[in-house]
Amino acid sequence: MAEVLVLGSVNMDLVAEVDRLPRPGETLTGRGFATVPGGKGANQAVAAARLGMRTAMVGRVGKDGFGRILSDRLHAENVDTSALVASRKQPSGTALITLSPTDNQIIVVSGANAELGEADLDRLTPFFKKARVLLLQFEVPLPTVEKAAALAYLAGLTVIVDPAPAPKFGEPLSTDFCEYISVLTPNQTEAEQLTGIEILDVTGAIAAAEMLRGQGIEVVIITMGALGSVCTSANGSFAIPAFPVPVIDTIGAGDAFNGGLAAALCRADPALRLNDHNLLRPALDYASAVAALAVTRSGAQSAMPTAAEVEDFLKAR
Ligand code: RIB
Repeated sequence: MAEVLVLGSVNMDLVAEVDRLPRPGETLTGRGFATVPGGKGANQAVAAARLGMRTAMVGRVGKDGFGRILSDRLHAENVDTSALVASRKQPSGTALITLSPTDNQIIVVSGANAELGEADLDRLTPFFKKARVLLLQFEVPLPTVEKAAALAYLAGLTVIVDPAPAPKFGEPLSTDFCEYISVLTPNQTEAEQLTGIEILDVTGAIAAAEMLRGQGIEVVIITMGALGSVCTSANGSFAIPAFPVPVIDTIGAGDAFNGGLAAALCRADPALRLNDHNLLRPALDYASAVAALAVTRSGAQSAMPTAAEVEDFLKAR
């Protein structure tokens, strides 16, 4: 039975590599094209599974060619796909990604991911007996995410919510939802969207994290790429630097971080409370190392490191 549960999106990523992003109305010649399994939920599931966690994915694909490939890929990565359903009505979710050496643009077409609802929550709850962590993101309907968080939190699981893609600017998370979030992990942009605070440095990030925690969330971690990350709990705030690495492809970096965080929290001494910085500091270091390794490789799921690679990386630093 799974230790890490993921309820979320499964997409086929259609990635065009370009020298720079096109302007509106402009046609560019691409340098390369790849069709690779992605979706924030599936990427996080693969990240956790590669780190040696027993992982299960609750989600939806289409009854089409992409759906078969996406489901087979998760299965090959040792992710339990017994709660991954093939929809008859909708095609598999797709993400149209334009990737330049310095930036990327993503258009997500939800397809079957948009159908995730009550029936999927019924598929999720039987896993609660053995699981320690539930990972959620915002690429599937928000009411389903909110209900999943409440059910899991009340069942004693640690609920990690990655609020990606970012909600509308200045639109806060509902108070009821915040009550059931153990750890919120926005990146810099998402934290700005949720708080309206412009984040230029660690001080700004801590202010935003404290504001979010004030809404009832136990722990808030804001990731800021090369600027590292900050963490706020009832025991105060701290920042950790990023690991300097040569960046090849940042797609899925946040997913790597969340998968790494889930693995670290699962393996932590159960006697430690979630807001204990003796638990949070090493967990953040571990998650940052997972993300650092992921950005040195191309692709999303294919870039996720193994537990042995992360251990070697941390030892070498
Ligand atoms: O976080 C990266 C993911 O976002 C991609 O794999 C793509 O599917 C989009 O959902």
